[in-house]
Amino acid sequence: MSAPFGRRACEVTANVSSGGYRIFSLRDREGPNPAPGQFYMLASEREWGEGGGRPYLPRAISVAEAIPAKDGVRLDFLVEGVGPGTDRLCELEAGERVWVTGPLGNSFSTPREVNPESAGAILIGGGIGIAPMAIWRRYLVERGIPLRVLLGFRNEAHSGGLNELFCAGGSLCPDVRLASEDGHAGHQGYVTDLLATMLAGDDATSAVVYSCGPPAMLEAVRALCAEHDVACELAMESPMACGFGACFGCAVPKPDGGYMRLCVDGPVVRGDAVAEVAHA
Ligand SMILES: Cc1cc2nc3c(=O)[nH]c(=O)nc-3n(C[C@H](O)[C@H](O)[C@H](O)COP(=O)(O)OP(=O)(O)OC[C@H]3O[C@@H](n4cnc5c(N)ncnc54)[C@H](O)[C@@H]3O)c2cc1C
Ligand code: FES
Repeated sequence: MSAPFGRRACEVTANVSSGGYRIFSLRDREGPNPAPGQFYMLASEREWGEGGGRPYLPRAISVAEAIPAKDGVRLDFLVEGVGPGTDRLCELEAGERVWVTGPLGNSFSTPREVNPESAGAILIGGGIGIAPMAIWRRYLVERGIPLRVLLGFRNEAHSGGLNELFCAGGSLCPDVRLASEDGHAGHQGYVTDLLATMLAGDDATSAVVYSCGPPAMLEAVRALCAEHDVACELAMESPMACGFGACFGCAVPKPDGGYMRLCVDGPVVRGDAVAEVAHA
């Protein structure tokens, strides 16, 4: 699905705290419904780049949920304040407006599109990267596609979105398992420990793995899937200036030489289309 030309102003309808993150909602009266994995370029209408200061450019944020409503679609975003742009988005107040461009980028493929023999999906999200897994999970559940979800957090201060995006009737959805490095929730350790155990099982090769999270986690997921010959799609990040293919700011190397622009050739990339996910 392609983005409508130009940007549009959308009203903030809510902004709540969740763990160490914020979840804010926009009412989008004009845009098409996003597909899971897509993102938007966002900038608040006021207090954004005023006086030539930062933030200047809009910031890329994945859509975590999209709920059709009679007056358009409600878009939910999960955000962590790590600098001037995300800090400003964390402060958004109901009633103010945000400049929105999108939905942008490609989206996840269904397990059968990736592998016609596939029996289901394993979703694995880390930190703020659980956002696109939420809308993808709902899409798969609505289509009756079997799935398991693994979510990991560094610690309680770097967690959030579980109650709002992965709970039903006040309880964690039964297909969701947790890991935390500090042991505050679920398995103590990396979420990729859970994936390694799962991929060692007999039915591993019939699954398709989908992942979003910090680069070190994505690289561990990519390497585990390659080792077990399991197909995977990774929702990747790189610094983005335009979001629609014009600036080449988001270029990442391809394994066979050359570069891809992550905003238009991604952000969802097949694991075998990257040599290694770069991380510090
Ligand atoms: C497709 C996509 C989807 C994203 N989805 C989300 C989301 O759902 N929620 C969320 O909180 N954040 C998301 N991000 C990350 C977010 O866009 C960046 O953290 C944000 O642009 C940082 O801006 P800032 O002004 O707050 O901080 P800055 O001061 O600009 O950056 C803070 C630090 O993060 C680094 N950085 C900035 N942008 C990126 C990037 N894109 N990749 C890696 N490092 C970066 C900078 O080098 C710096 O070290 C997404 C990024 C992309 C590309
Ligand atoms: S962000 Fe400009 S080309 Fe990708």
